[in-house]
Order: sequence, then C-alpha cells, then structure tokens
Amino acid sequence: MATATKKAMAKKAAKAAPKAVAKAAAKPAAKNGVHKNGTRTNGATTNGVHKNGASKPAAKTAIPPKKGKGSFSEVPGKYCVRDISLAEEGRKLIQWAESRMPVLMHLRDKYKKSQPLKGLRLAGSLHVTKETAVLVETFAALGAEVSWSGCNPLSTSDPVAAALAKGGISIFAWYGNHEDFYWCIERTIDLKPNLTLDDGCDLINTVHEKYADYARKEVIGGTEETTTGVQRLRARAGAGRLFYPVYAVNDAITKWDFDNVYGTGQSTLDGILRATSVMFAGKNFVVAGHGHCGQGVAKRAKGMGSNIIITEVKATSAIKGVLEGYRVMTMDEAAKEGDIFCTATGVKDIIRKKHFLSMKDGAIVCNTGHYDAEINLKELAEVTKSKRTIRENCEEYTLKNGNKIYVLAEGRLVNLAAAEGHPSEVMDMSFSNQLMCHLELAAAYKAGKKLPNQVLDIDPAQDEFIAETKLRTMGMAMDKLTKDQLSYINDYNAGT
Ligand code: ADE
Repeated sequence: MATATKKAMAKKAAKAAPKAVAKAAAKPAAKNGVHKNGTRTNGATTNGVHKNGASKPAAKTAIPPKKGKGSFSEVPGKYCVRDISLAEEGRKLIQWAESRMPVLMHLRDKYKKSQPLKGLRLAGSLHVTKETAVLVETFAALGAEVSWSGCNPLSTSDPVAAALAKGGISIFAWYGNHEDFYWCIERTIDLKPNLTLDDGCDLINTVHEKYADYARKEVIGGTEETTTGVQRLRARAGAGRLFYPVYAVNDAITKWDFDNVYGTGQSTLDGILRATSVMFAGKNFVVAGHGHCGQGVAKRAKGMGSNIIITEVKATSAIKGVLEGYRVMTMDEAAKEGDIFCTATGVKDIIRKKHFLSMKDGAIVCNTGHYDAEINLKELAEVTKSKRTIRENCEEYTLKNGNKIYVLAEGRLVNLAAAEGHPSEVMDMSFSNQLMCHLELAAAYKAGKKLPNQVLDIDPAQDEFIAETKLRTMGMAMDKLTKDQLSYINDYNAGT
C-alpha cells in the first residue's frame, strides 16, 4: 500500500476511534463492567455462552469479524479463546505456578482486603502463560477489572487462556494467532482501560496511535515489561508522543538481572531442546547479542558443553564475552562456524541471506528476542529450494546450494513458542514489580497526584523489598550492617 494511502487511513481511524471510546467512557460501567441495562460495555450480553454451546447471542455488536480460521470458544465482548474445555488443565498449571510465586502471592494476600485497584480497568498485552495468569488473577483479586491479550502470536497457552476465561477474566488470546493479533488487542481496549500493561509496546502503540485523545484523557498510566518495549517507549517519549506515564518494569534490578539472564537462559535452551532434542555438548553455539538475555543463553549453553561464539556491536558487551572465555567475532565469520544460532539483540536483520549461504549443512537457527525481525526469513526464502516441517516448531529449509537449515518457531521467541517461557520462580519477581508499579499508579491517581508523561524508573526501595521477600521465601537470611560499619562506610576520612 502506498504510504500516502496508509497515512490517510491511519488519520481516518484516529479520528473515528476515539469518539467511540470516549462515548463509551462517558458512561461508566457498573459492577464488573456491566451496564445497568445488562449489556457489556461493548454491547455483548453478560450471560452469553460461547458458540459451541451458545444459548444466547450477543445483544448487539459492533465487533469486527476475526480473520483467523478454526474453531474458537467465544463470548463476544467477554472472551475468545481456542477451547474453553481446556480450562481444568489450565487451572492446574496456574495452581502449579502459584505455588512457585511466593512474592506475588504474598502481595495478593496483603492487599486483597483493601482492594487498592477497585474501580480501575486494566488492559494487558503479555504472553498468556501460567505465570501471567497468576498476575492477572492478582489484579482481579485486588479489585481491578481486567482485560487481556497475548503479545506474540505463538506464546499463548490455550489451557491457561481457557482457565482465565472460565474464571471470569476478559481474555482474547490463542496459540497461532497470526491474523487476529491486533483484533485481540482492540478487544481489550473495548474495556476502556485506564491502566495498560505491555510486553513489547503493541498495546501502548495501538492506544497512542489510534486513540490518542483517549490515551491523553483517560489513561492514568502503564507499565512495560521488556527491553525492546522500553527502547520503543523511550523513542516515543523522546519524540514527545508519550501521553501517559509508563513504568519501565524491565529496568528493575529484580527483573533484568534475573528474568532476562536466568529466565531467558533456561527457557531458551528448553525451547531449542523441545524443538530439536539436539545435544549441546561439543556444538559451536553462536549467541548474537551479549546483553542480559544473550548472557543468560551463553551461560547455560556453556554449562551444557557448547563452545560459545558471541557477535556484538557494543564493545563492553563483547569484552564481557571475551572474559567469560568465549570467542567474539562478526556474524560473517560466525555464520561459517556455528552449529546452533540464537539471536538475542532486539535488532532486525541479524542473520541475513549471505549468512544463510555460508552456514554449515544442518545448522539450527532460532531467536529469543521479542520480535521476529532478527532472522530475515524473507531472504532465507529467496535462497531456498524446498521447505518441510520436521516436527513441531522445527522447519527444514533446503537451500539451492543443497544445504539444509533448520529454523525454530518461525523465528519467533523460541522460549515461549516452543517451551513455556521463563520458570515461575523468576517470573515471581518480574510480576511482583508489575503489580507494585500498578499499585503506585493507582495510589497516585487516587491521591490526585499527576505523574509526568515519561518513562518512569522503578523505586530502588521496590527492588529491595522484592529481593528481600524473595530471599525470605527461599529460606535464606542476610547479614545486617552494624551501626559502626554504617558510619565507617560513610566516613570520607577513613583510609589505610
Ligand atoms: N516472558 C518470558 N517468560 C515468560 C513467562 N513465563 N510468562 C510471561 N512472560 C514471559
């Protein structure tokens, strides 16, 4: 489509949409987002039953149709998941996660009586995993009305989505949601959120670009979970296009020093293993990007006996790799040596045509960064003769030069698409940060305090609280500085 036409369409949408949202917003939802007349705020009936067992259709709906094929369990305006009958399976997974997320469960317990989120509507776009479900149900337990979508077409656990829907959460998410990704996000905006929670900025971007006026007037604030998302946010804020305050949850120490490193390290190897079952020992494992996520992947692959090769654009990150005992080289060089490639950069086109052409026969290629832009599959297609699926999440590309290359999970984040994402134990800290930031936003709002429309840093006291609570739940104790030690470290005259 011509850029001018695209722009004209975007302008038209931006003009039309806020009106619809603002009109609905003017009419506050009664209990649980249900108007007095018995309709959901977007017109669906409150007691509608999904189409497989439909008893009552939605009263009236302005909801655009989905593009995706296949069967769904759906109550318009309330949920759309793959199969609601998976709810019991999902509930067991959620209970499993709850038992490994003691900090978040402690916060749920601590605040459920005072209902600090009562009266607020929160829309989230974040991988629908068992861990996310614990967060979502904590928001609901604290009084928020919640509406959720996934943040990647291949990261939703269908059983978990079904359990959330059955438990009363408004959710629009299913595994393999390529065509209706933004349709799902739009349905969460139907809730008219005044809080947003993102992993990768797709919700924030939609709210800002399509409903700018609404974003400015109705949204109190939001949070962003991931490195890539925070980069996008800073760019938005820098351009003067951020219309409400957003906490950079990713930048909390108790998030990125743990989730990004140990979470990504373990779940990425888990994804590669589930998709291939290859042996890591003795393989040349190329990690593109030696930031927090890349460091985690390299550490764990090294632990499994791989020889690590790092590619980098940042000298300090490259040196860290050298001092870990890894080889550092350009991707042009690494492409010839690698057996397994994993991108973790947040940058597009890390592996391109020339790299595919110089790879060994049988090379495995995957990505653990947020977007599927790091491996250029379009260029791979240009040099491919034929393609077939070997097993779930493992596609074999036979190149015109005769070599075979295996791409995992369509180049989407392999740890969530082919495995279950990071373990509950580490998501416990990340999601406690999410919750505490939303408590901050709610408290500021209720106190009439306006936070600046900026990317907000996490309070170090929050980090310390989460780390201390986590340690305590792990049964570990710490030392405390004595008064004497405290005055020693603050004494500028102390020397040899
Ligand atoms: N990102 C990485 N792992 C995750 C998980 N288990 N749940 C939600 N988001 C994630």
